[in-house]
Amino acid sequence: MPVLNHIAGRVEEIAEWRHDLHMHPELQYDVHRTAATVAEKLKAFGCDEIVPGIGRTGVVGVIHGKKKGAKVVALRADMDALPLQEMTGLPYASKTPGKMHACGHDGHTAMLLGAARHLCETRNFDGTAVVIFQPAEEGGAGAKAMIDDGLFERFGIHEVYGMHNYPGQAVGTFAMRPGAIMAAADRLRIDIEGKGGHAARPHRAIDTIVVGAAIINALQTIVSRNVDPIDNAVVSITQFEGGHTDNVIPQTAFMRGTCRSLKPEVRDLLEKRVKEVVEGIAALHGAVAKVHYGRDYPVVVNDPGAVEFAESVATEIAGKDNVNPNVLPVMGGEDFAFMLQKRPGAFIFMGNGDTANLHHPAYDFNDKAIPFGASYWVRLVEKAMPA
Ligand code: NI
Repeated sequence: MPVLNHIAGRVEEIAEWRHDLHMHPELQYDVHRTAATVAEKLKAFGCDEIVPGIGRTGVVGVIHGKKKGAKVVALRADMDALPLQEMTGLPYASKTPGKMHACGHDGHTAMLLGAARHLCETRNFDGTAVVIFQPAEEGGAGAKAMIDDGLFERFGIHEVYGMHNYPGQAVGTFAMRPGAIMAAADRLRIDIEGKGGHAARPHRAIDTIVVGAAIINALQTIVSRNVDPIDNAVVSITQFEGGHTDNVIPQTAFMRGTCRSLKPEVRDLLEKRVKEVVEGIAALHGAVAKVHYGRDYPVVVNDPGAVEFAESVATEIAGKDNVNPNVLPVMGGEDFAFMLQKRPGAFIFMGNGDTANLHHPAYDFNDKAIPFGASYWVRLVEKAMPA
């Protein structure tokens, strides 16, 4: 079965919803207009229950099937945009300077709305579908906020599914894998305290710039020498600041960066070794360095059974040749990880075609992907709870 005819015939309208969201990007938890738009549409579709304000600005819609089975399956989309200046030149480009939908969450929201409308109209399933629209995916852990607000218990959710568009992957294709599919994303801040002084009298100072340089180099040995070569890890220093002029050795300097991993034990190893290396190198130079290691999003771990099911649904929509059930994991992070810690489910990638990369100012969600994503959501519900 290809994409659902009923969805295919209304792609333009769903694309219009997306363009409206695209013109009005909102950040983090401050997605009031978006959440209100979502709630309004769910009401117009005839959703049985609409609950706003979960996890501050998240919205949940409940749709009962024509048969009242006990199973509850949840589908999740994210609503937030990014603090980026849009450079697409599109007629529906962001109307807010410095904010843009550069990750396609406008498309995710519109596709799930399209699926919700279809499910409300047809109700061709035995059980309950829950549609989750979450805020603050981009670094704000909105998924966790919704969970902490009782999301899973309140709606009795048994399984949860997520999806992200993927530039560089052809439109009309899906990709997934069992187990870890996206990385744990941790934040690193390193504060170095040395001894400031005259640049021409370095022997009377403890040079935080030299200490920092040694730390950056030494950190590169963690992935190459401590992590098992068969495992995956990233340690990147992305910011290094110290000093203000050419003749003063600065008293302090700081660095920031990120650590990525796909296994809990590798994550533990990275944290332990980063601290040891930083403190050890600083001590070697007579300086003091403190590491603030912030554990952000955990690893996105797909349930093997749920992935097999997701693969079967995607295959119905896209055909076997257009579904990759064993895609390589990526080292990006995604807060859907928190949901998969609570309930079994699957997070999959959907092709966005040959577009600019995610988080790039020229990126745009591909409207041609809408029928595939929306049809996938509808069939997932119908197949998980056959009427
Ligand atoms: Ni995203």
